[in-house]
Amino acid sequence: MRRTALITGGAKRLGQHMAKHLAANGWNIVIHYNRSVLSAARLKKELDQQYPEGEFAVIKADLNEMDQIDELIHKTINIAGKIDLLINNASVFDPSFIADTTNDFYERQMTVNFKAPFFLTKHYSLLQNKGLIVNLTDTRITRNEPNFAAYTLSKKMLWELTKMSAIELGPNFRVNAIAPGATLPPENETDDYLEALAKKTPMQVPSGVTPILNSLDYIISNQHLTGQILFCDGGENLGKPTH
Ligand SMILES: NC(=O)c1ccc[n+]([C@@H]2O[C@H](COP(=O)([O-])OP(=O)(O)OC[C@H]3O[C@@H](n4cnc5c(N)ncnc54)[C@H](OP(=O)(O)O)[C@@H]3O)[C@@H](O)[C@H]2O)c1
Repeated sequence: MRRTALITGGAKRLGQHMAKHLAANGWNIVIHYNRSVLSAARLKKELDQQYPEGEFAVIKADLNEMDQIDELIHKTINIAGKIDLLINNASVFDPSFIADTTNDFYERQMTVNFKAPFFLTKHYSLLQNKGLIVNLTDTRITRNEPNFAAYTLSKKMLWELTKMSAIELGPNFRVNAIAPGATLPPENETDDYLEALAKKTPMQVPSGVTPILNSLDYIISNQHLTGQILFCDGGENLGKPTH
């Protein structure tokens, strides 16, 4: 029987890479999106054409809105029948020092990046008796650079949620995290942005998305892995190279 993955923020960028990768490996995909309606529709069409034996659906939800967070798992199960894998990938990534952070700004980072995964986890665990969750956090959680203060704190909390939910929901659910380093440049930046960041890591060159897809495969296949984090950051979490 085919397995189904719900990928939040699945229409573009890393979410889209994971959707295509899982589809190529025989998964049905529910592509969650908020603003990227055209990209979501295009991706569904492409997957429908490429994998006619698969089932691909799109579902919209603003993960800044509590009622839409609360409905997403239920709606997905209504469409797809079940969820074998929930990937909490949707995210906002906005710079702000603590001194510049307004309440609205703080709420947005925390709600999309942490509160939504928290309540999606809750609903998933209540509506199904087994499952797998992968939370996309960030190598920045190993540092305390204040320039993305609310973002970084939201991703630190997501990692803590990963461990806490692995304890509460085991053995029927496994919960793990992937922590990318600079993988895709922000939409307004070029690859030079990534090259410059990667030079400050032990591996010195950008990795592309392959390590993240490999880590996803490893989490899926390792049936005893729970509460763990896989850094896909070329060693960035270890500190800067000395040479
Ligand atoms: N890219 C990197 O190099 C990098 C580095 C470290 C960590 N990460 C983590 O890896 C994950 C994927 O990264 P990415 O760069 O591909 O992410 P991204 O492009 O910044 O965001 C992914 C998706 O999140 C969705 N999203 C944002 N606000 C939303 C809202 N209010 N409601 C629902 N969805 C919302 C957007 O969907 P719509 O477009 O449909 O609105 C967006 O396409 C993220 O969790 C990120 O923190 C990425």
